[in-house]
Amino acid sequence: MARIALISGSLRAESSNSAVVATIRKIIEGRAGGHEATVVPLHDFPPFDQDVERAGHPAPLESARGQVSGADALIVCSPAYNGYPPGVLKNALDWLSRPGGESPLTDLPTAVLSASPGQAGGANVQPHVRRILANCGAAAVECDEVAVGDAISLRTSEGLIEDPATVSRLEKLVDAVLAAAAR
Ligand SMILES: Cc1cc2nc3c(=O)[nH]c(=O)nc-3n(C[C@H](O)[C@H](O)[C@H](O)COP(=O)(O)O)c2cc1C
Repeated sequence: MARIALISGSLRAESSNSAVVATIRKIIEGRAGGHEATVVPLHDFPPFDQDVERAGHPAPLESARGQVSGADALIVCSPAYNGYPPGVLKNALDWLSRPGGESPLTDLPTAVLSASPGQAGGANVQPHVRRILANCGAAAVECDEVAVGDAISLRTSEGLIEDPATVSRLEKLVDAVLAAAAR
């Protein structure tokens, strides 16, 4: 049984990246083996501030740290904002990277994907997210690149992705992550 933490880099309620994350969660929980998936919400992370850190981690951060430190792997799905990861995602990863030497990201197998309304699916953001995670000490999961294009129209009213070709690509990514988590 593996525990997988999931992060969407978008905060908005009808986010296509969050729909991808919800679909990945459904795939993980549907796989044999009793795997668990937990979505780490980014809404309540304060802006990183070393004075706040010194005074003690805020409660939402402690909760997120617990989710990530209890996980065997992490999957991050991010939009591109002007070609780079949203500030909220970088901010959350900065918090999770602290304190140095005690980060739950250290050596954590991690896969990155992206979604956007454009045809390219925001693929250009992925190297940046991977680089941030590598700098945080995370380990990259080897898998085919998944960039979900046309993602807003693929999102169902239930907040999932049901397009068979996309689901098939997400299933392959999930299987690669579960294999890495088992190692
Ligand atoms: C500030 C801003 C910058 C954006 N820059 C890009 C971009 O560089 N590449 C891209 O494919 N989409 C870009 N978009 C469009 C986002 O991909 C789109 O809003 C997407 O739906 C956001 O993901 P979500 O549906 O999960 O919220 C940008 C959107 C915003 C708000």
